[in-house]
Amino acid sequence: MSKVTVVGAGNVGATCANVLAHEDIFNEVVLIDIQGNMAKGKALDTWQQAPVDSYSTRLTGGDDYALTANSDIVVITAGVPRKPGMSRDDLIATNAKIVVSVTQNIMKYSKNPIIIVVSNPLDVMTYACWRASGLSDKRVLGMAGVLDTARYRAFLAEELNCSPKDIQAMLMGGHGDTMVPLPRYTTVSGIPVTELIRKDKLEAIIERTKFGGGELVNLMGTSAWYAPGAAAAQMAISIWKDEKRIVPACVRLNGQYKLKDIFVGAPVKLGRKGVQEIIKLRLKKDEQELLNKSAAAVQEIVDALNGMNLI
Ligand code: NAI
Ligand code: 2OP
Repeated sequence: MSKVTVVGAGNVGATCANVLAHEDIFNEVVLIDIQGNMAKGKALDTWQQAPVDSYSTRLTGGDDYALTANSDIVVITAGVPRKPGMSRDDLIATNAKIVVSVTQNIMKYSKNPIIIVVSNPLDVMTYACWRASGLSDKRVLGMAGVLDTARYRAFLAEELNCSPKDIQAMLMGGHGDTMVPLPRYTTVSGIPVTELIRKDKLEAIIERTKFGGGELVNLMGTSAWYAPGAAAAQMAISIWKDEKRIVPACVRLNGQYKLKDIFVGAPVKLGRKGVQEIIKLRLKKDEQELLNKSAAAVQEIVDALNGMNLI
């Protein structure tokens, strides 16, 4: 019996649940939201999609955490999304209260789940969830890098007129404007991207990626959901299938990259136990400096959060 709970049945959560159902590897997907009927309705709608799209995953939903009992994996998307003009950090106080209470409720019903946090500001919410959960730092991680690299890969595919499937990329740092793209680790079917694209064009794509979330907020008046929902689902799927995929994810660094006790994006190997390994790259001096700057920006918000005494 395998079970995933997705908390927050809004744009990202409902998309994530839908993608998970289509993968057809979990027995049950539970959608939880303070708007219980909405969660129940979206779960029912996705269950009614099963005969059409041919999957067996059962979906249930509501506002009662008893439904989540014995979840193997939990995806937390509950929170308030960004509106135009808002930074991810503006969301801190509201979303921290939500993420902490959601985590406490989850832990009442599941002993040792793996939790994937999506709510923003991502790195800080992942830290808050970890603190509130009491779980090992191998079992609490955040989704941002899969989305950020997806945006970068999509922009590159457009520029190179090739399939996004063939573009592999890695990035590090916090989910925000200080993210640290690593173009020397970007390849197109093994070919270093730097051999295929002009430097100025690559730099423009990196800049567009850094502000990729904001671009969509400006277009839609709220933040993105299709790619974020699918990215969170992909992480849950990799964990459950024990694929040992290597992806960028927000994890607790404890000495790696000369950073201690901070949740920030790094390359990791995902498996049934969660974060199986943090991959150590040999960063160049300028890359390490960018990572330090990004980690400092995350730490500033963590300090603000710790000052609020919410956890
Ligand atoms: P949304 O507003 O569509 O959905 C959020 C849902 O959370 C709502 O249905 C709301 O009722 C629910 N909720 C609020 N408080 C709750 C609580 N205490 N318990 C249970 N449910 C609760 O927002 P959307 O677009 O789905 O975004 C969700 C979060 O994900 C936001 O914080 C957003 O900034 C973040 N996000 C993060 C991304 C990433 O890359 N890490 C990408 C996209 C969004
Ligand atoms: C995004 O990057 C807002 O974090 C959200 O789309």
